[in-house]
Amino acid sequence: MAFINLNSEIPGPKSREVLARREKAVTRAVARSTQVVIDRAEGALVHDVDGNTLIDMAGGIGMLAGGHCPPAVVEAMREQAGKLIHPCFLVGTYEPYVDLAEMLNECTPGDFDKKSILVNSGSEAVENAVKIARCHTGRQGIIVFEGAYHGRTLLTLSMTSKYGLFKKGFGPFAPEIYRLPIPNLYRRPESMAEEEYIQWSIAQLENALIAQVDPSAVAAIVIEPVQGEAGFLPVPAPFLAKIREICDEHGIVMVADEVQCGMGRTGRLWAIEHYDIVPDLLISGKSLGSGMPIASVTGRAEIMDAPHPGGAGGTYSGAPLACVAAIESLKLINSPDFLAEVRRKAAIIRSRMESWKEQFPIVGDVRGLGAMLLVEFVRDRQTRHPAPEETLEIIKDAVSKGLLLIRAGLYSNCIRLLPPLVITDEQLDEALTIIENSIALVQDRQEHARAACVNG
Ligand SMILES: Cc1ncc(COP(=O)(O)O)c(C=O)c1O
Repeated sequence: MAFINLNSEIPGPKSREVLARREKAVTRAVARSTQVVIDRAEGALVHDVDGNTLIDMAGGIGMLAGGHCPPAVVEAMREQAGKLIHPCFLVGTYEPYVDLAEMLNECTPGDFDKKSILVNSGSEAVENAVKIARCHTGRQGIIVFEGAYHGRTLLTLSMTSKYGLFKKGFGPFAPEIYRLPIPNLYRRPESMAEEEYIQWSIAQLENALIAQVDPSAVAAIVIEPVQGEAGFLPVPAPFLAKIREICDEHGIVMVADEVQCGMGRTGRLWAIEHYDIVPDLLISGKSLGSGMPIASVTGRAEIMDAPHPGGAGGTYSGAPLACVAAIESLKLINSPDFLAEVRRKAAIIRSRMESWKEQFPIVGDVRGLGAMLLVEFVRDRQTRHPAPEETLEIIKDAVSKGLLLIRAGLYSNCIRLLPPLVITDEQLDEALTIIENSIALVQDRQEHARAACVNG
Protein backbone atom coordinates (compact mmCIF):
# COMPACT_ATOMS: atom_id res chain seq x y z
CA MET A 1 0.00 0.00 0.00
CA ALA A 2 1.30 3.41 -0.95
CA PHE A 3 1.20 6.05 1.76
CA ILE A 4 2.00 8.95 -0.51
CA ASN A 5 -1.08 10.32 -2.19
CA LEU A 6 -0.70 13.20 -4.61
CA ASN A 7 -3.77 14.99 -6.02
CA SER A 8 -1.82 17.88 -7.44
CA GLU A 9 1.70 18.85 -8.26
CA ILE A 10 3.76 20.14 -5.34
CA PRO A 11 3.19 22.94 -4.65
CA GLY A 12 -0.51 22.77 -5.62
CA PRO A 13 -2.73 25.82 -6.16
CA LYS A 14 -3.52 26.48 -2.48
CA SER A 15 0.10 25.97 -1.51
CA ARG A 16 1.21 28.44 -4.16
CA GLU A 17 -1.20 31.02 -2.75
CA VAL A 18 0.22 30.63 0.76
CA LEU A 19 3.79 30.69 -0.56
CA ALA A 20 3.09 33.94 -2.40
CA ARG A 21 1.72 35.43 0.83
CA ARG A 22 4.75 34.13 2.72
CA GLU A 23 7.03 35.78 0.18
CA LYS A 24 5.34 39.15 0.74
CA ALA A 25 4.92 38.94 4.51
CA VAL A 26 7.97 37.06 5.80
CA THR A 27 11.62 38.03 5.52
CA ARG A 28 13.52 36.02 2.93
CA ALA A 29 16.21 35.49 5.58
CA VAL A 30 14.11 32.61 6.90
CA ALA A 31 14.67 30.23 4.02
CA ARG A 32 12.57 27.22 3.11
CA SER A 33 13.99 23.90 1.96
CA THR A 34 10.85 22.79 0.14
CA GLN A 35 7.67 24.34 -1.26
CA VAL A 36 5.44 22.10 0.83
CA VAL A 37 2.71 23.95 2.73
CA ILE A 38 1.63 21.78 5.61
CA ASP A 39 -1.86 21.56 7.01
CA ARG A 40 -1.61 18.67 9.46
CA ALA A 41 0.55 15.65 10.24
CA GLU A 42 0.65 12.45 12.24
CA GLY A 43 3.45 9.93 12.77
CA ALA A 44 5.66 10.16 9.68
CA LEU A 45 2.93 11.45 7.35
CA VAL A 46 2.33 15.06 6.41
CA HIS A 47 -0.79 16.40 4.67
CA ASP A 48 -0.50 19.60 2.69
CA VAL A 49 -3.15 22.28 2.12
CA ASP A 50 -3.95 20.82 -1.32
CA GLY A 51 -4.88 17.47 0.15
CA ASN A 52 -1.61 15.72 -0.77
CA THR A 53 -0.07 13.23 1.63
CA LEU A 54 3.72 13.07 1.85
CA ILE A 55 6.24 11.02 3.85
CA ASP A 56 8.38 13.13 6.13
CA MET A 57 12.08 12.25 5.91
CA ALA A 58 13.18 15.59 7.40
CA GLY A 59 11.31 15.40 10.69
CA GLY A 60 11.54 19.15 11.29
CA ILE A 61 15.36 18.86 11.02
CA GLY A 62 15.41 16.13 13.63
CA MET A 63 12.82 17.58 15.97
CA LEU A 64 10.29 14.79 15.63
CA ALA A 65 11.93 11.55 16.74
CA GLY A 66 8.66 10.68 18.49
CA GLY A 67 6.66 11.47 15.35
CA HIS A 68 4.24 14.25 14.48
CA CYS A 69 1.70 14.79 17.24
CA PRO A 70 2.42 11.70 19.40
CA PRO A 71 -0.93 10.94 21.10
CA ALA A 72 0.50 10.95 24.65
CA VAL A 73 2.16 14.33 24.04
CA VAL A 74 -1.03 15.82 22.58
CA GLU A 75 -3.12 14.51 25.46
CA ALA A 76 -0.73 15.80 28.13
CA MET A 77 -0.64 19.23 26.49
CA ARG A 78 -4.45 19.36 26.21
CA GLU A 79 -4.79 18.59 29.89
CA GLN A 80 -2.07 21.05 30.88
CA ALA A 81 -3.49 23.86 28.71
CA GLY A 82 -6.79 23.68 30.57
CA LYS A 83 -5.02 23.89 33.92
CA LEU A 84 -2.02 26.21 33.73
CA ILE A 85 -0.45 27.67 30.61
CA HIS A 86 2.45 29.55 32.15
CA PRO A 87 3.09 31.51 35.33
CA CYS A 88 6.87 31.95 34.65
CA PHE A 89 9.25 29.73 36.61
CA LEU A 90 11.03 32.84 37.93
CA VAL A 91 7.80 33.82 39.69
CA GLY A 92 6.35 30.56 40.94
CA THR A 93 7.26 26.88 40.89
CA TYR A 94 5.20 24.30 39.04
CA GLU A 95 5.71 20.57 39.05
CA PRO A 96 6.23 19.75 35.32
CA TYR A 97 9.50 21.77 35.31
CA VAL A 98 10.81 19.93 38.37
CA ASP A 99 9.59 16.56 37.03
CA LEU A 100 11.41 17.07 33.74
CA ALA A 101 14.60 18.27 35.43
CA GLU A 102 14.57 15.13 37.61
CA MET A 103 14.03 12.91 34.57
CA LEU A 104 16.91 14.56 32.68
CA ASN A 105 19.20 14.28 35.69
CA GLU A 106 18.34 10.59 35.85
CA CYS A 107 18.64 9.65 32.17
CA THR A 108 21.84 11.50 31.22
CA PRO A 109 25.23 9.79 31.59
CA GLY A 110 27.22 10.18 34.81
CA ASP A 111 26.94 8.68 38.22
CA PHE A 112 27.09 11.96 40.14
CA ASP A 113 24.69 14.62 41.43
CA LYS A 114 23.19 16.53 38.54
CA LYS A 115 21.04 19.59 38.00
CA SER A 116 19.26 20.95 34.93
CA ILE A 117 18.05 24.19 33.42
CA LEU A 118 15.24 24.36 30.86
CA VAL A 119 15.18 26.97 28.10
CA ASN A 120 13.39 27.66 24.81
CA SER A 121 15.81 26.55 22.09
CA GLY A 122 19.01 24.67 21.40
CA SER A 123 20.82 27.97 20.89
CA GLU A 124 19.66 29.26 24.24
CA ALA A 125 20.79 26.05 25.88
CA VAL A 126 24.26 26.35 24.33
CA GLU A 127 24.43 29.99 25.52
CA ASN A 128 23.57 28.87 29.03
CA ALA A 129 26.11 26.06 28.99
CA VAL A 130 28.79 28.59 28.03
CA LYS A 131 27.70 31.05 30.74
CA ILE A 132 27.68 28.31 33.35
CA ALA A 133 31.10 26.96 32.29
CA ARG A 134 32.59 30.46 32.38
CA CYS A 135 31.18 31.12 35.85
CA HIS A 136 32.42 27.77 37.10
CA THR A 137 35.96 28.09 35.76
CA GLY A 138 36.42 31.86 35.91
CA ARG A 139 37.81 31.57 32.36
CA GLN A 140 36.54 32.89 29.04
CA GLY A 141 37.88 30.69 26.21
CA ILE A 142 35.49 28.37 24.38
CA ILE A 143 36.78 25.70 22.01
CA VAL A 144 34.54 24.61 19.15
CA PHE A 145 35.22 22.69 15.95
CA GLU A 146 35.17 23.13 12.20
CA GLY A 147 31.77 22.33 10.75
CA ALA A 148 30.06 22.79 14.12
CA TYR A 149 26.54 24.13 14.36
CA HIS A 150 25.53 25.47 17.74
CA GLY A 151 22.80 27.97 16.84
CA ARG A 152 22.05 31.40 15.46
CA THR A 153 22.04 33.77 18.43
CA LEU A 154 25.09 36.01 18.42
CA LEU A 155 27.17 33.92 20.82
CA THR A 156 26.15 30.60 19.29
CA LEU A 157 26.53 31.98 15.75
CA SER A 158 30.08 32.86 16.75
CA MET A 159 30.48 29.19 17.69
CA THR A 160 28.84 27.97 14.47
CA SER A 161 30.82 27.14 11.32
CA LYS A 162 29.87 27.34 7.58
CA TYR A 163 30.43 31.06 7.26
CA GLY A 164 28.76 31.79 3.91
CA LEU A 165 25.37 30.39 4.80
CA PHE A 166 25.05 31.20 8.47
CA LYS A 167 27.34 34.12 9.30
CA LYS A 168 27.86 36.35 6.28
CA GLY A 169 27.03 39.97 7.12
CA PHE A 170 26.29 39.38 10.80
CA GLY A 171 29.59 40.17 12.49
CA PRO A 172 31.32 41.22 14.62
CA PHE A 173 31.16 37.96 16.47
CA ALA A 174 31.74 37.16 20.12
CA PRO A 175 35.37 36.99 21.20
CA GLU A 176 37.22 34.13 22.90
CA ILE A 177 35.90 31.42 20.59
CA TYR A 178 38.61 29.10 19.24
CA ARG A 179 37.75 26.89 16.28
CA LEU A 180 39.88 23.78 15.88
CA PRO A 181 39.99 21.13 13.16
CA ILE A 182 38.11 17.89 13.70
CA PRO A 183 38.70 14.66 11.80
CA ASN A 184 36.49 14.01 8.78
CA LEU A 185 37.37 10.45 7.83
CA TYR A 186 35.85 10.69 4.36
CA ARG A 187 37.89 13.76 3.46
CA ARG A 188 41.19 12.71 5.01
CA PRO A 189 44.38 13.02 2.95
CA GLU A 190 44.60 10.09 0.57
CA SER A 191 48.02 9.14 1.85
CA MET A 192 46.81 8.58 5.42
CA ALA A 193 45.18 5.46 6.78
CA GLU A 194 42.21 6.03 9.10
CA GLU A 195 44.05 5.39 12.37
CA GLU A 196 47.05 7.44 11.31
CA TYR A 197 44.75 10.35 10.39
CA ILE A 198 42.97 10.22 13.76
CA GLN A 199 46.31 10.28 15.58
CA TRP A 200 47.43 13.18 13.36
CA SER A 201 44.18 15.04 14.22
CA ILE A 202 44.84 14.47 17.92
CA ALA A 203 48.34 15.90 17.47
CA GLN A 204 46.78 18.94 15.74
CA LEU A 205 44.45 19.36 18.70
CA GLU A 206 47.33 19.25 21.15
CA ASN A 207 49.28 21.69 19.02
CA ALA A 208 46.33 24.12 18.95
CA LEU A 209 46.50 24.24 22.74
CA ILE A 210 49.96 25.72 22.31
CA ALA A 211 49.51 27.73 19.12
CA GLN A 212 45.98 29.10 19.56
CA VAL A 213 44.97 29.15 23.21
CA ASP A 214 46.40 27.95 26.48
CA PRO A 215 44.24 25.36 28.26
CA SER A 216 44.33 27.47 31.42
CA ALA A 217 42.26 30.11 29.55
CA VAL A 218 39.64 27.65 28.34
CA ALA A 219 36.28 27.38 30.13
CA ALA A 220 34.66 24.76 27.91
CA ILE A 221 35.11 22.49 24.94
CA VAL A 222 31.76 22.24 23.19
CA ILE A 223 31.36 19.34 20.79
CA GLU A 224 28.60 17.52 18.92
CA PRO A 225 29.39 13.79 19.39
CA VAL A 226 27.96 13.35 15.91
CA GLN A 227 28.25 16.58 13.97
CA GLY A 228 24.89 17.40 12.44
CA GLU A 229 24.93 20.29 9.96
CA ALA A 230 28.52 19.42 9.03
CA GLY A 231 27.24 16.19 7.51
CA PHE A 232 26.53 13.53 10.15
CA LEU A 233 30.13 13.00 11.10
CA PRO A 234 30.51 10.77 14.15
CA VAL A 235 33.54 12.04 16.06
CA PRO A 236 36.15 9.23 16.13
CA ALA A 237 36.24 7.67 19.61
CA PRO A 238 39.96 8.34 20.29
CA PHE A 239 39.46 12.03 19.43
CA LEU A 240 36.54 12.35 21.84
CA ALA A 241 38.48 10.43 24.50
CA LYS A 242 41.35 12.88 24.03
CA ILE A 243 38.97 15.79 24.61
CA ARG A 244 37.78 14.17 27.85
CA GLU A 245 41.40 13.69 28.87
CA ILE A 246 42.30 17.33 28.11
CA CYS A 247 39.26 18.56 30.04
CA ASP A 248 40.18 16.40 33.05
CA GLU A 249 43.80 17.49 32.97
CA HIS A 250 43.07 21.21 32.76
CA GLY A 251 39.78 21.61 34.61
CA ILE A 252 37.90 22.44 31.39
CA VAL A 253 34.15 21.78 31.20
CA MET A 254 33.34 19.19 28.53
CA VAL A 255 29.99 20.03 26.91
CA ALA A 256 28.22 17.55 24.63
CA ASP A 257 25.82 19.34 22.30
CA GLU A 258 23.21 16.65 21.63
CA VAL A 259 20.58 18.97 20.20
CA GLN A 260 20.56 17.08 16.89
CA CYS A 261 22.19 13.73 17.69
CA GLY A 262 20.42 13.09 21.01
CA MET A 263 16.95 11.85 21.94
CA GLY A 264 17.20 8.38 20.43
CA ARG A 265 18.37 9.35 16.95
CA THR A 266 21.47 7.14 17.11
CA GLY A 267 19.68 4.16 18.64
CA ARG A 268 20.70 5.10 22.17
CA LEU A 269 19.07 7.91 24.09
CA TRP A 270 22.27 9.99 23.84
CA ALA A 271 24.92 9.70 21.13
CA ILE A 272 27.71 10.02 23.71
CA GLU A 273 26.59 6.70 25.21
CA HIS A 274 28.12 4.98 22.16
CA TYR A 275 31.50 6.21 23.37
CA ASP A 276 31.33 5.41 27.05
CA ILE A 277 32.47 8.96 27.76
CA VAL A 278 30.72 11.12 30.33
CA PRO A 279 30.52 14.83 29.54
CA ASP A 280 30.27 17.40 32.34
CA LEU A 281 27.27 19.07 30.71
CA LEU A 282 24.87 17.64 28.13
CA ILE A 283 22.63 19.81 25.98
CA SER A 284 19.36 18.47 24.62
CA GLY A 285 16.74 20.07 22.40
CA LYS A 286 14.83 19.41 19.18
CA SER A 287 13.07 16.03 19.73
CA LEU A 288 12.97 16.64 23.47
CA GLY A 289 9.72 18.56 23.04
CA SER A 290 8.26 16.76 19.97
CA GLY A 291 8.02 20.19 18.35
CA MET A 292 7.40 22.31 21.44
CA PRO A 293 10.11 24.92 22.07
CA ILE A 294 12.16 23.41 24.85
CA ALA A 295 15.83 22.57 25.38
CA SER A 296 17.94 21.73 28.37
CA VAL A 297 21.37 21.77 29.93
CA THR A 298 22.02 18.97 32.41
CA GLY A 299 25.22 18.24 34.26
CA ARG A 300 27.36 18.13 37.34
CA ALA A 301 25.49 19.87 40.15
CA GLU A 302 28.52 21.88 41.29
CA ILE A 303 29.03 23.26 37.78
CA MET A 304 25.34 23.94 37.17
CA ASP A 305 25.17 25.82 40.48
CA ALA A 306 28.12 28.10 39.69
CA PRO A 307 26.12 31.16 38.55
CA HIS A 308 24.58 33.37 41.22
CA PRO A 309 20.82 33.12 41.85
CA GLY A 310 19.13 35.15 39.12
CA GLY A 311 22.02 34.63 36.70
CA ALA A 312 19.92 32.47 34.37
CA GLY A 313 16.30 31.98 33.31
CA GLY A 314 13.84 33.69 31.00
CA THR A 315 10.19 34.61 30.62
CA TYR A 316 9.06 31.54 28.70
CA SER A 317 11.81 29.11 29.68
CA GLY A 318 10.52 25.71 30.69
CA ALA A 319 6.86 26.62 30.22
CA PRO A 320 4.48 23.93 31.52
CA LEU A 321 3.07 23.01 28.09
CA ALA A 322 6.57 22.44 26.74
CA CYS A 323 7.56 20.54 29.90
CA VAL A 324 4.69 18.07 29.71
CA ALA A 325 5.41 17.57 26.00
CA ALA A 326 9.04 16.80 26.88
CA ILE A 327 8.11 14.47 29.73
CA GLU A 328 5.91 12.39 27.43
CA SER A 329 8.50 12.50 24.62
CA LEU A 330 11.20 11.26 26.98
CA LYS A 331 8.96 8.47 28.30
CA LEU A 332 8.26 7.41 24.70
CA ILE A 333 11.82 7.57 23.37
CA ASN A 334 13.73 6.40 26.43
CA SER A 335 12.14 2.97 26.41
CA PRO A 336 14.18 -0.11 25.51
CA ASP A 337 11.57 -1.18 22.94
CA PHE A 338 11.56 2.17 21.17
CA LEU A 339 15.35 2.32 21.03
CA ALA A 340 15.59 -1.29 19.83
CA GLU A 341 13.17 -0.40 17.04
CA VAL A 342 15.34 2.59 16.09
CA ARG A 343 18.37 0.31 15.83
CA ARG A 344 16.42 -2.17 13.71
CA LYS A 345 15.21 0.54 11.34
CA ALA A 346 18.71 2.05 11.23
CA ALA A 347 20.03 -1.27 9.91
CA ILE A 348 17.37 -1.30 7.18
CA ILE A 349 18.21 2.26 6.10
CA ARG A 350 21.95 1.69 6.20
CA SER A 351 21.89 -1.46 4.12
CA ARG A 352 19.72 0.26 1.51
CA MET A 353 22.07 3.24 1.45
CA GLU A 354 25.13 1.01 1.14
CA SER A 355 23.52 -0.51 -1.95
CA TRP A 356 23.32 3.01 -3.45
CA LYS A 357 27.04 3.31 -3.01
CA GLU A 358 27.45 0.18 -5.13
CA GLN A 359 24.99 1.35 -7.79
CA PHE A 360 25.64 5.04 -8.18
CA PRO A 361 29.09 6.57 -8.71
CA ILE A 362 27.63 9.93 -7.63
CA VAL A 363 27.29 8.53 -4.08
CA GLY A 364 30.66 9.25 -2.49
CA ASP A 365 29.96 8.25 1.07
CA VAL A 366 27.28 6.81 3.31
CA ARG A 367 27.75 7.41 7.00
CA GLY A 368 26.29 8.25 10.38
CA LEU A 369 25.50 6.59 13.66
CA GLY A 370 22.37 4.56 14.33
CA ALA A 371 19.49 6.09 12.43
CA MET A 372 21.31 9.40 11.98
CA LEU A 373 22.28 8.57 8.41
CA LEU A 374 23.38 10.56 5.40
CA VAL A 375 24.51 10.24 1.79
CA GLU A 376 27.27 12.48 0.44
CA PHE A 377 27.22 13.20 -3.30
CA VAL A 378 30.35 13.88 -5.35
CA ARG A 379 31.11 14.59 -9.00
CA ASP A 380 34.12 12.34 -8.90
CA ARG A 381 34.87 9.62 -6.39
CA GLN A 382 38.60 10.05 -6.81
CA THR A 383 38.74 13.80 -6.15
CA ARG A 384 35.63 13.78 -3.91
CA HIS A 385 34.60 17.02 -5.58
CA PRO A 386 31.26 17.96 -3.95
CA ALA A 387 28.06 17.84 -6.02
CA PRO A 388 25.73 20.41 -4.41
CA GLU A 389 23.64 21.16 -7.53
CA GLU A 390 23.04 17.47 -8.17
CA THR A 391 22.08 17.02 -4.51
CA LEU A 392 19.50 19.76 -4.89
CA GLU A 393 18.16 18.15 -8.07
CA ILE A 394 17.74 14.83 -6.26
CA ILE A 395 15.90 16.54 -3.44
CA LYS A 396 13.64 18.49 -5.81
CA ASP A 397 12.72 15.33 -7.67
CA ALA A 398 12.02 13.40 -4.46
CA VAL A 399 9.88 16.24 -3.07
CA SER A 400 7.87 16.37 -6.29
CA LYS A 401 7.15 12.66 -5.74
CA GLY A 402 5.94 13.15 -2.19
CA LEU A 403 8.86 13.29 0.24
CA LEU A 404 9.96 15.94 2.68
CA LEU A 405 13.73 15.86 2.39
CA ILE A 406 16.60 18.20 3.27
CA ARG A 407 20.29 18.77 2.66
CA ALA A 408 23.25 19.01 5.01
CA GLY A 409 27.02 19.20 4.92
CA LEU A 410 29.67 21.86 4.88
CA TYR A 411 29.48 21.74 1.06
CA SER A 412 25.67 21.36 0.90
CA ASN A 413 26.20 18.10 -1.00
CA CYS A 414 24.58 15.64 1.38
CA ILE A 415 21.07 14.36 1.97
CA ARG A 416 20.40 13.66 5.61
CA LEU A 417 17.64 11.39 6.76
CA LEU A 418 15.93 12.54 9.94
CA PRO A 419 12.53 10.85 9.67
CA PRO A 420 10.24 10.56 12.64
CA LEU A 421 11.56 7.38 14.23
CA VAL A 422 8.02 6.00 14.47
CA ILE A 423 8.03 5.60 10.68
CA THR A 424 6.75 2.16 9.67
CA ASP A 425 8.78 -0.29 7.59
CA GLU A 426 6.39 0.15 4.67
CA GLN A 427 6.64 3.93 4.79
CA LEU A 428 10.40 3.67 5.03
CA ASP A 429 10.56 1.38 2.03
CA GLU A 430 8.37 3.71 -0.02
CA ALA A 431 10.50 6.73 0.94
CA LEU A 432 13.83 5.00 0.28
CA THR A 433 12.60 3.78 -3.11
CA ILE A 434 11.76 7.35 -4.10
CA ILE A 435 15.19 8.60 -3.04
CA GLU A 436 16.83 5.72 -4.90
CA ASN A 437 14.89 6.54 -8.09
CA SER A 438 15.71 10.23 -7.79
CA ILE A 439 19.42 9.44 -7.42
CA ALA A 440 19.21 7.15 -10.47
CA LEU A 441 17.51 9.90 -12.47
CA VAL A 442 20.10 12.54 -11.63
CA GLN A 443 22.95 10.07 -12.11
CA ASP A 444 21.55 9.28 -15.58
CA ARG A 445 21.27 12.95 -16.46
CA GLN A 446 24.83 13.51 -15.33
CA GLU A 447 26.10 10.63 -17.46
CA HIS A 448 24.18 11.88 -20.52
CA ALA A 449 25.57 15.36 -20.05
CA ARG A 450 29.09 13.94 -19.82
CA ALA A 451 28.57 11.80 -22.93
CA ALA A 452 27.23 14.82 -24.82
CA CYS A 453 30.30 16.78 -23.75
CA VAL A 454 32.66 14.06 -24.97
CA ASN A 455 30.78 13.63 -28.28
CA GLY A 456 30.18 17.20 -28.97
C1 LIG B 1 23.91 20.57 17.34
C2 LIG B 1 22.99 21.74 17.42
N1 LIG B 1 23.14 22.62 18.41
C3 LIG B 1 22.33 23.68 18.54
C4 LIG B 1 21.33 23.93 17.63
C5 LIG B 1 20.45 25.13 17.77
O1 LIG B 1 19.17 24.75 18.15
P1 LIG B 1 17.92 25.72 17.91
O2 LIG B 1 17.69 25.79 16.44
O3 LIG B 1 16.81 25.05 18.67
O4 LIG B 1 18.28 27.04 18.50
C6 LIG B 1 21.13 23.02 16.57
C7 LIG B 1 20.07 23.25 15.59
O5 LIG B 1 20.03 22.66 14.53
C8 LIG B 1 21.99 21.91 16.46
O6 LIG B 1 21.86 21.01 15.46
